[in-house]
Amino acid sequence: MLSAEMVPFAKIGGPADVVGALPKALRRMGHDVRVAMPCYRSIRPEQFGMTTLIEALPVPFKHNTEEAAIRETTVGGVPVYFVDAPRYFQRENVLGYQDDGDRFILFCRAALEMCRALDWSPDVIHAHEWHTAIVPNWLHTLYRHDPIFSTTASVFTIHNMAYQGIFGHRILEVAGLANQEFVLPALADKQDDAVDLLGRGIAYADVVTTVSETYAEEILTPEYGEGLEGLLRQRANRLEGILNGIDAEVLNPATDIYIAQPYDADHLEQRAANKRALQEQFGLEPDPAVPVLGFVSRLARPKGADLLTAAFDHIIELGAQIAIVGIGDPHYHELFAQCVARHPRRAAIHFNFGADWTQPLYAGADMYLMPSRFEPCGLNQMIAMRYGAIPIVRATGGLIDTVTEFDPQRGTGTGFTFHEFDPWSLLAAIARAVQSYRYPDSWHDLMRRAMAVDHSWRASAARYGAVYERALEWHAEDIALHHPADIGSGLADEREV
Ligand code: GLC
Repeated sequence: MLSAEMVPFAKIGGPADVVGALPKALRRMGHDVRVAMPCYRSIRPEQFGMTTLIEALPVPFKHNTEEAAIRETTVGGVPVYFVDAPRYFQRENVLGYQDDGDRFILFCRAALEMCRALDWSPDVIHAHEWHTAIVPNWLHTLYRHDPIFSTTASVFTIHNMAYQGIFGHRILEVAGLANQEFVLPALADKQDDAVDLLGRGIAYADVVTTVSETYAEEILTPEYGEGLEGLLRQRANRLEGILNGIDAEVLNPATDIYIAQPYDADHLEQRAANKRALQEQFGLEPDPAVPVLGFVSRLARPKGADLLTAAFDHIIELGAQIAIVGIGDPHYHELFAQCVARHPRRAAIHFNFGADWTQPLYAGADMYLMPSRFEPCGLNQMIAMRYGAIPIVRATGGLIDTVTEFDPQRGTGTGFTFHEFDPWSLLAAIARAVQSYRYPDSWHDLMRRAMAVDHSWRASAARYGAVYERALEWHAEDIALHHPADIGSGLADEREV
């Protein structure tokens, strides 16, 4: 598995959690999964007991050769290889540099060269996000006849269509692919001579996955496809949505060391101590009867920051308190700071992430907000449910697949949903939740239902296992037919995945 990020080593977003947990679950099923990622400056080799496997691995790069060391450690039974190329990765941040394209091409190339040096031939390479999307392309071109990779299939996972890794044509020279160029028909009108790495992953991978079933359908439309919907439709028979899980061992209110009072679904009365602790920690009025709404998020437009700030005063008028943990665009820092300042002791924000703030919030809040414009999967709503904070979500992507509308008559559902991306629809959903909160018995039933949903990785890991098998079959067929994912001709294929 190739990724730019993995918990506990480096985290930019949700994909780090996925790559931190999925390999463990797959290994439990008997797969020999190993992960490779770059060795960033923030990763201290001593801290993780790394050993050096290869001191100086030559990596073909930009008509030249670059050297990288390969280090290794094991986490939760999963071997992790680190590509240590100081010039490219010993920097202050993980991402956000002019040469990000070059950096991740180098990382990927080093990972493949490492397999050759170790004489380790993977059945499948599973690549995540645009940072590693060049690999399926290479397996059908540069490495196609390499004995180590001759039968290696590729699976590519899209975590978010909004991040595509678009670079100038030069990136193909960096990748050693300048002579192998073909124009992707679906991309042609979008970007002339630009190279869309995410698009390449989609075009070349034997199987493409994304992180929920609903998002897999949404991205076939212009509203969510970010310009690649045409290409995705052409590859629809290779596209599959598999819902992420959460690490249910780590995220467990019965054992969480960051919360005031451990509890489980059979001892909900113990949760009250956590609500009190949350109100204290955030400087809110310590009133057990007031519903507390929690929000842990990047403060940005796609996460619904505009909706929340627009509805803010009205939410407080409904009699609720709001507790927020997040960082993001300076513009939203300002906006949220103003909202909170208007409601002392009723609303508070902590501008930082960290388990000492997020976990008490999941354990103490009565409701949890996720008003996203789009949400490929979303992990926080699942964490909130596991901790008994009832999700209030926009009906999009993975949020649809994990939260069902509460029906007090039937005694069904696990949260509150709204459809239109506007503040009034959000407010209406919150009003329903606040109203329902007044009936403690049915609210407790609702909490127990939400907490009982199994969002662990078990089921999803099994589906990835099946995807790997299918990728191997498709790959063998494509190679035999001599159309290396040549999307111009290979698409008429009607077989079902
Ligand atoms: C991205 C998506 C998020 C998803 C995560 C893990 O961050 O925006 O919805 O949960 O990836 O796949």
